[in-house]
Amino acid sequence: MSHATNSEMSGFHLVGKLLEHASRPDPYPIYAEFRARGPLWIEEMSSLVVTGYHDCETLLRDPRLSAERWRFFQPDGAADPYPQDAPASVRRPWFLSLDPPDHTRLRRLVSSAFTARTVARMEDSVTRLVDECLDRAADGETFDVMSGLAYSLPVTVICRMLGVPQADERLFHRWTAQLTRLLDGFSNPGDGNEEWAGGMVDMHRYVNDLVAERRRSPRRDDLISELLAAQEGGDVLSHDELVSTIVLLLVAGHETTVNLIANGVLALLRHPGHLAALRADPGTASAVVEETLRYDPPVQLTARVAKEDMSVGKAKVPAGSLVILLLAAAHRDPEANPDPDRFDPSREQVRHLGFGFGPHFCLGSPLARLEGRVALAAFARRVRGPELVADPPPYREHINLRGVSELLVSHAGVT
Ligand code: HEM
Repeated sequence: MSHATNSEMSGFHLVGKLLEHASRPDPYPIYAEFRARGPLWIEEMSSLVVTGYHDCETLLRDPRLSAERWRFFQPDGAADPYPQDAPASVRRPWFLSLDPPDHTRLRRLVSSAFTARTVARMEDSVTRLVDECLDRAADGETFDVMSGLAYSLPVTVICRMLGVPQADERLFHRWTAQLTRLLDGFSNPGDGNEEWAGGMVDMHRYVNDLVAERRRSPRRDDLISELLAAQEGGDVLSHDELVSTIVLLLVAGHETTVNLIANGVLALLRHPGHLAALRADPGTASAVVEETLRYDPPVQLTARVAKEDMSVGKAKVPAGSLVILLLAAAHRDPEANPDPDRFDPSREQVRHLGFGFGPHFCLGSPLARLEGRVALAAFARRVRGPELVADPPPYREHINLRGVSELLVSHAGVT
């Protein structure tokens, strides 16, 4: 039986190939095939796939595109996945998926908490958490970077920032795990719905109670109390919007930062020269983080909905269709980054859209960069003679928040 090569496949079949689990460890040759075809209209999906760097960057700030993707996926009348007694906040869309003016109003409220200056104050506590993880890794001869480091750090950091009592952090570890398929955006409607809807409702109930508690007795040192003060001072957002925004912060930075750390460690282990360079000079950790965000980005794609008929290159895009921006493909556009398939933290200039671009540019990027930098530098400094136990490591099903399920590393000790 003859199999069509990638270059002979229709756009729709190429998408099918991308969705196959066998493509998870290395989807980049498929992305390259998409890129060779330019902006590609896929009739069967009413969607345009965009892979050029310049096109992605331009479209991310094009006001003719809406971030309200749920309008495409859940047209009016779609089944409500939540039980009737779920808190009302669970039905409020996150500002990640809203357009101005609501997007602007909600984003403004939280933006001051995530500036580079505010986040820099967290460096010591992030360093302590990373060191605690690596201390535990010293016990065995192998160490799973996923469960031992990458998975626990981001959710612990954001819980502490918001002021979630430490005894309850384990609840968020569980809920964020339940929500991952929802965030990926590629699960079929009905696929594991109960699991993620249940996690979402439980998290909203908890955050509703926590907000009510902080309203009664505010504290001086947590973000929820700060947001409440801002809300009461400005009278600009409702209780439900506040709860929904807090839940967004809890989940948006989780899987993404997990994958930044794991993808970074994986790339370093496959390129021992760069690992040695990082060990010799921890100051290069930022460059490793930026190159990881380009070479193997935690968020592989994002999407928008066309508000009006438009054209992208030669492709015609009718109003209401989906525009899929394959960021991970754009990063390997040779017009943006020379020799793009090479992992090289020492490249002169790194151009990436790993945190998006334009009005929805990742609010948590300073925090993600800090966590990535501290974790990768500590891994290089403290883990002696690390080697991958399996290459490629096993991958989860996720297409967008693509990442490994386990990253076993053997080592000669942790100092
Ligand atoms: C938005 C990536 C970590 C909070 C985004 C977007 C991307 C992204 C690509 C834009 C999505 C779009 O335009 O459709 C990442 C990556 C991270 C990371 C790769 C880690 C390596 C975080 C963290 C937080 C966070 C730690 C907060 C604690 C947000 C929020 C938005 C966002 C609130 C929505 C911004 C808006 O709509 O205005 N992120 N993110 N992210 N991210 Fe992140």
